[in-house]
Amino acid sequence: MNNRILIKHLLCAEAPASRVIAAGWVRTRRDSKNFSFLELNDGSCLASLQVIADAGIPGYEEISLFNTGASVLVQGDLVESPGGRQKWELRASSIQLLGGADHSYPLQKKGHSPEFLRSIAHLRVRTNLFGAVFRTRSRLAAAIHRFFLDREFAWVHTPLITASDCEGAGEMFRVTTLDPLSRGNKSFDDDFFGRAAYLTVSGQLEGETYACALGNIYTFGPTFRAENSNTTRHAAEFWMVEPEAAFCDLEGDMELAEAFVKHLVGAMLADSSGDFDFFCKWVDKGLRERLECVSRRPFVRCSYTGAIDILTKSGRRFDYPVRWGIDLQSEHERFLTEEHFGGPVTIYDYPKEIKPFYMRLNDDGKTVAAMDVLVPGIGEIVGGSQREERLDVLESNIRRMGMSEDSYRWYADLRRYGSVPHAGFGAGFERVLMFLTGVRNIRDVIPYPRTPGHCEY
Ligand code: 4AD
Ligand code: MG
Repeated sequence: MNNRILIKHLLCAEAPASRVIAAGWVRTRRDSKNFSFLELNDGSCLASLQVIADAGIPGYEEISLFNTGASVLVQGDLVESPGGRQKWELRASSIQLLGGADHSYPLQKKGHSPEFLRSIAHLRVRTNLFGAVFRTRSRLAAAIHRFFLDREFAWVHTPLITASDCEGAGEMFRVTTLDPLSRGNKSFDDDFFGRAAYLTVSGQLEGETYACALGNIYTFGPTFRAENSNTTRHAAEFWMVEPEAAFCDLEGDMELAEAFVKHLVGAMLADSSGDFDFFCKWVDKGLRERLECVSRRPFVRCSYTGAIDILTKSGRRFDYPVRWGIDLQSEHERFLTEEHFGGPVTIYDYPKEIKPFYMRLNDDGKTVAAMDVLVPGIGEIVGGSQREERLDVLESNIRRMGMSEDSYRWYADLRRYGSVPHAGFGAGFERVLMFLTGVRNIRDVIPYPRTPGHCEY
């Protein structure tokens, strides 16, 4: 068993091989009089291995238990497949049932709805679509690490439990050991940390402290938001990649974000596993062309003020009326990327009122050096900014937003001791995955989606 060969390797073998071992889950079984065909999938690739088991080989007496979903071990010879549908097939010399599956196994047939499959998140990864999504997720996570490590960014593991609200939006999950149901006047003094603590919404603030020592860093891990948005692009738990670069301004930040997105698009286009082809064929027919177009063209850059101008002059009636100062809504982002620019666009210099306290105030006194990368079909996938490196401006922002100066003293220290211009961004890993796979719902690119009202298992 331990010397099994992955089906992905068997299927691209250069020559026949004898006495090889494969293991996996039965997708289908067809019986003839003297032999059976098994389609065996081990999750190493999209394709399944065809196994021919002749009646009479060891293990064949149990063939009626080799149902869809059962796990099996097969030993045999890899031979050229006469059928032509696949190059190789395995002629079994013995078969062994490891774990049976009866007819209650929910994935008996193909074509289940994503909603149904979400209700069996522990089994859905055994389908073609989810197998492809989660292999791709793993490969792209590796591509993210390569991108930053090749550029000398150090990976920093910022804490998941924090006492500060990075985005200032008050969308934090509380971390406590106090029993919410017990009465009595408890205060945070009695709590585990002796103060209020939360799950992080972003590793940025802690990331900045490391960038202001190591130079270039990135964080990559889970983040949590208790925002009550039941949309196809919001999850309460999602992964974020957050680079932070010292001695870098907004221009450098926009360049880094574009290079980052293009690197991942390039990794996707170069994918030879068959998973990308699967997305192009079954999920989104326009995917390849769209990604090729993204990799060829520079991203359009447009100021927030310019974007408002385009939206106002579009003659389009939006549900959410457009005026300078509003936060761009999904309908506005979609108009800009899908209709006006026909591709990704980086919007920069947003009104300071709609952005967090840490963004650098521009000379106009009205806007901050923020940038968002918007893409067709999804909207915002990256949000970032140059950070306010001037102590007095930062402190006045903290006061203006009614935040506790004391709680952010450590953060302000970076401006007190050797302050440097620095910038960074956050890219939602699931949104990037949606963009690269064509999958339309964030719940289908994260193994166990957590959304308002949903925390199965
Ligand atoms: O724009 P956001 O809120 O930016 C920050 O958190 C900054 N601290 C990042 C930084 O500069 N280091 O979030 C960044 C990205 C968004 O562009 C989006 O892709 C993703 O995180 N995101 C979500 N993804 C899934 N579900 C949610 N609820 C998300 N909220 C944000
Ligand atoms: Mg944002």
